[in-house]
Amino acid sequence: MGKGQGPLERVNRSAVTAKMVKKLFIKSYGCQMNVYDSGRMADVLAPLGYESVPAPEGADMVILNTCHIREKAAEKVYSELGRLRRLKDAKGDMVIAVAGCVAQAEGEEILTRAPTVDMVFGPQSYHRLPDMLKRLEGGAANVLDTDFPVEDKFDALPKVGGTGKGKGAPAAFLTVQEGCDKFCTFCVVPYTRGAEFSRPVAKIFAEAQALAAIGTREITLLGQNVNAYHGEGADGRPWGLAQLIVELAAIEGLDRIRYMTSHPRDMDDALIRAHGDVEKLMPYLHLPVQSGSDRVLNAMNRQHTADEYRAIIVRMRAVRPDLALSSDFIVGFPGETDEDFEDTLQLVRDIGYGQCFSFKYSPRPGTPGADMKDQVPEAVKTERLAQLQALLNQQAKAFDASMVGRELDVLFEKPGRHEGQIIGRSPYLQATHVVAPTSMIGKIGRVRIIKAKPNSLEGELVHSSVREVA
Ligand code: 5AD
Ligand code: SF4
Repeated sequence: MGKGQGPLERVNRSAVTAKMVKKLFIKSYGCQMNVYDSGRMADVLAPLGYESVPAPEGADMVILNTCHIREKAAEKVYSELGRLRRLKDAKGDMVIAVAGCVAQAEGEEILTRAPTVDMVFGPQSYHRLPDMLKRLEGGAANVLDTDFPVEDKFDALPKVGGTGKGKGAPAAFLTVQEGCDKFCTFCVVPYTRGAEFSRPVAKIFAEAQALAAIGTREITLLGQNVNAYHGEGADGRPWGLAQLIVELAAIEGLDRIRYMTSHPRDMDDALIRAHGDVEKLMPYLHLPVQSGSDRVLNAMNRQHTADEYRAIIVRMRAVRPDLALSSDFIVGFPGETDEDFEDTLQLVRDIGYGQCFSFKYSPRPGTPGADMKDQVPEAVKTERLAQLQALLNQQAKAFDASMVGRELDVLFEKPGRHEGQIIGRSPYLQATHVVAPTSMIGKIGRVRIIKAKPNSLEGELVHSSVREVA
């Protein structure tokens, strides 16, 4: 925008630009909360005329919603920025924004290292995107916003489903809690996402209801520490996650509820009971343990022992015998010995997981782990990871194979990779595909599993049992 224009002209100009369709490309890295946040950024920008496109070529604005959890995740951003710079040079005008946890952690440094970037904003600031765009249009060289605002970001966001644009996704994420006060010594989350915050029950209920009204059948309640949820309930008192789940289970049309990610310390009695009592709560739990060695768990500041974790699983399986479990593991945390690692393998053998995620320890600047003595050599980490993953893959394969011949309810989400196929999720979160018409998408069908493939199950529809939207 040229200098010397009055405020009135500025208003007029933005009114004109608001009507033009602009292309927006958002790329999400890392966790599901980033996926949720990316969707909300698109909601914030929609009233300004931005429409999402599937690729950055020709986009007017590109947002990289970044992850800082491990070094590799953060480095990906800079290589992507190199590619984007060439697209921007070719197109002439393109707003490039870096959002999410790398933005929060590195702030100004990104603008120095990658001058092609116009905007840097953290996970707590994206509701201010229209303001940031105005500042750019007003001639600012770039915009940096990594404050933790006092206002509730969620209050400032547009209502979910309020755009009236067709049906919602069959399965959606809903953030109920953000931030973390646990301070595991390897983790950047308490620094990038800030202190624990729980949204009030009424707001979550309204959002879930709005999702159900546009056709969403399954919601995954998201939080960095979701089972530490303690949002204000209808009685003005803090409600736990179990109470919230019971409340949401009453919403008609909403058939499935999941939650992630949980911490073993916050797996309270009510939540364990809910797994037995609430039919809509799916029999799958992601409960990261990170290590099976008490020494390492202590150094990680996890605040529980391996046996305490085992005991939780025993109690959960008592109320829900078919519960499938998944976890995150870190190998090569500072000081981890061969015996410690053997304890981890033993824990995995004892529990028996359906699916797992495992990582080499990555020292993150500013976290206590990065300064610990006895950092484990890279080659040892690589060797341990391979050994752990071989065991975890074997368990995952056996779990999937145990489904063959069974009938499972599958919520169909989208067309599959092959002609005529549609794909959805089993109650245990397994990707499951069948040959069926696309009109089945958004519905739950009974599926007989005929084959376990490396990354999915293959089945056939048992026709009589399709459950229509209420
Ligand atoms: N190095 C390796 N893995 C990590 N995670 C978190 N921080 C680190 C790190 N510094 C893993 C944990 C966590 C998952 C989301 O990422 O296993 O549960
Ligand atoms: Fe990170 Fe630990 Fe908090 Fe999970 S509980 S977000 S691993 S600090």
